[in-house]
Parts: sequence; C-alpha cells; structure tokens
Amino acid sequence: MDHRPIGVFDSGVGGLTVVKELLQYGPNEKIIYFGDTARVPYGSKSKETVTKYAKQIARFLLTKNVKGLIVACNTMDSNSLEELQANFDVPIMGVVEPGASMAAAATYNQKVGVIGTEATIKSQAYQKHILKQASTIQVFGQACPLFVPLAEEGWLEDEITYQVAKRYLSPLQLAHVDTIVLGCTHYPLIESIIQKVMGDQVSVINPALETVERFLDLLKNINGLREERSQPQHEFYVSDNPDKFSQLGSLILSYPLDKVKQVNIEKY
Ligand code: DGL
Repeated sequence: MDHRPIGVFDSGVGGLTVVKELLQYGPNEKIIYFGDTARVPYGSKSKETVTKYAKQIARFLLTKNVKGLIVACNTMDSNSLEELQANFDVPIMGVVEPGASMAAAATYNQKVGVIGTEATIKSQAYQKHILKQASTIQVFGQACPLFVPLAEEGWLEDEITYQVAKRYLSPLQLAHVDTIVLGCTHYPLIESIIQKVMGDQVSVINPALETVERFLDLLKNINGLREERSQPQHEFYVSDNPDKFSQLGSLILSYPLDKVKQVNIEKY
C-alpha cells in the first residue's frame, strides 16, 4: 500500500481527459496535476525544448512526493519518455504505447490514421509501436496543429472546429483508414466532431482509459495502490493564470476546480 499521490501532467487542459479516467477507475488515488498553460502549445516546439520542459515538470511533481507519473501528453511522451525514465526514479508511463496497442487491435482493414501535434507525428512514435504489434498495418500520420488552441479556447462543438477538422481529416478519409487514434490528449475534447467528420464506420481511439488501467496495474504489481476508501483532495497546478483553466477544467471533469494554484515552473 502506498498513500502517496500520482502525478499527471500535460501542456494544458488536455491531460484532464486522462485525469477523468483516473478519477473513475482509481477513485482512492490522490492526483497532483500540472498543466503548463504559460508555454502551451508544445506541439510546435523542438524535441530539446519539450524534453527540458518535461523534466522541469517532473522535478516539480517530485517535490510533491508523487509515487509515479503519467505523461498525459503525447508530445512529451513521444519525444521525451526515455529521457524521463532515465532521469527519475519512479514509474513513468505515457499514452502512446497504450493507444498504439488499442489501434492495432481495432483495425480490420490494416489502415490506421494517427492524428497529433507536429512534434508527435514527426517522432513517428505511434508508427513504431503499431508496427511492433503487427507489421502489416499501414499507418497514416496527420498533424492537426490548430486543434490544441481550439480546445484550449473551449470551442469544443463549434462550426469553426468542424470546418478545421474536415480539412485536416480529409487525407485520412481518402486513405480509407478504418481506425483513427486521438494522438493528442486535447483531442478527446473534440471527439464528437472528429467522429462526425470520419463517420460512424471509423473507430476513434482514445488512449486515456487503457493508459490509466495499465498504470494502476503497474502500481498494483509493486503493491503501490492506495487501497483503503478515501476522498482524496486532488491538487491542480498551472504555470499561468488559473482562472481559464479552472473554468474549462471544471467542465471537462464535471468536478469543481476551485483551488487551482499557479507555479513558476522555470524554477525547477
Ligand atoms: N496535449 C498534448 C499532447 O497530447 C500537447 C499539445 C500541445 O501542447 O501542443 O500532445
């Protein structure tokens, strides 16, 4: 049994789509969340910058005595996971490998689309993990850089978001993918638009639940769960003005984020 909290982090509100599953499937676990709202988006930044930011966030969360870290950001996972695992001595899991396994299992026609930030698509991380599962699968990557600012703006069911999605997703429609992975944790926020554009015959994969299940299993195997029933007081931190994050975050989690604190992440 381990009472310490779990650290979850992203460049902004996107990682809350993973927190949502953790609240449901690990209800006794205390969560410390960090969203780097001062430096979002990460998707257009270099591997070096993303890795520097990821390490600062890990250092900050470790000051909160976390027992493990969920990298709830595909961009940090695909560019910096190995570096994080080599530098920090707690279990660290990302979203890419779980999402890749789900996609490989879901496709019938062996054509999978992956949508994500420019940095995630460029890293080819999904491609590598999907091909490890089945080398016959064709993977079509598509960067959708405008999705993150649209989601951060809260335009989750907006006509403009729909038009942007139509444009980004058309190459994947032309490629006849039958499965599409939401390779950015912000994208589940606009999942209904993505599903509408792709049509009901296409499976839309959100890696969040599989990630949380694997992470909780990992903790269980090292006797690291907080097993007794508790009502943990989760903590949420951001690097810029907390108000907007509180507003959108409360909507995403259906959980009041009224005490979001601001941290100077550059210090870590
Ligand atoms: N939500 C993040 C991801 O999963 C990062 C988005 C960004 O900051 O560009 O990739």
